[in-house]
Amino acid sequence: MRKIGIAVLVSGGGTNLQALIDSIQKGEINGEIVIVISDRENAYALERARKHGIKSVYIHRNNCTENLISELKEANAGLVVLAGFLSILDRELIKAYEGRIINIHPSLIPAFCGKGFYGERVHKAAVEYGVKISGATAHFVDEGTDSGPVILQETVPVYADDTAETLAARVLKVEHRLLPEAVGLFCEGRLRIEGRKVIIAEKEV
Ligand code: GAR
Repeated sequence: MRKIGIAVLVSGGGTNLQALIDSIQKGEINGEIVIVISDRENAYALERARKHGIKSVYIHRNNCTENLISELKEANAGLVVLAGFLSILDRELIKAYEGRIINIHPSLIPAFCGKGFYGERVHKAAVEYGVKISGATAHFVDEGTDSGPVILQETVPVYADDTAETLAARVLKVEHRLLPEAVGLFCEGRLRIEGRKVIIAEKEV
């Protein structure tokens, strides 16, 4: 089976990018990262990409879509992964890569997601609400915000003395497992979208 070219879009530290890099190095994903794109010039994720000899590009938010599409095409990306990418993608790009964009979100969607819910804000809202569980969601991206079909979810407990920071750290550990797993399933051709549902095919033996 041919390896899938993966484009990873980032805005921050890139620990999820690192989890993908590590998982690929271990041979767990039938794909390779062909480009890392950041909408923030000083994102540490860009440095991580460079350290691993992966092409890394900064794109200014203002003319994001046009440049993004041309970079993705040039890199021959078959899958786009949003790993802490904080800009909203335009409809044009989502249409061009329909069913081929995966996002990782640090809550159990549909809780604590949508406009304005990103990074620490998600965990602050969960702690303030007093939920007993939170978690992470890997999902396909559609035209809404955090509204596409769910691929994988995993829970973590929320304790009475949790802060946004302690909860974020617990959820992040789960993200680092969940995102590579979802990407791995995609690259093996085992994900099929049926309406709102994602069907995961058994591994062929
Ligand atoms: C992650 O927790 C990711 O789920 C979140 O940003 C963080 C990026 O961390 N994404 C969102 O909140 C998107 N709505 P990282 O740069 O260390 O991977």
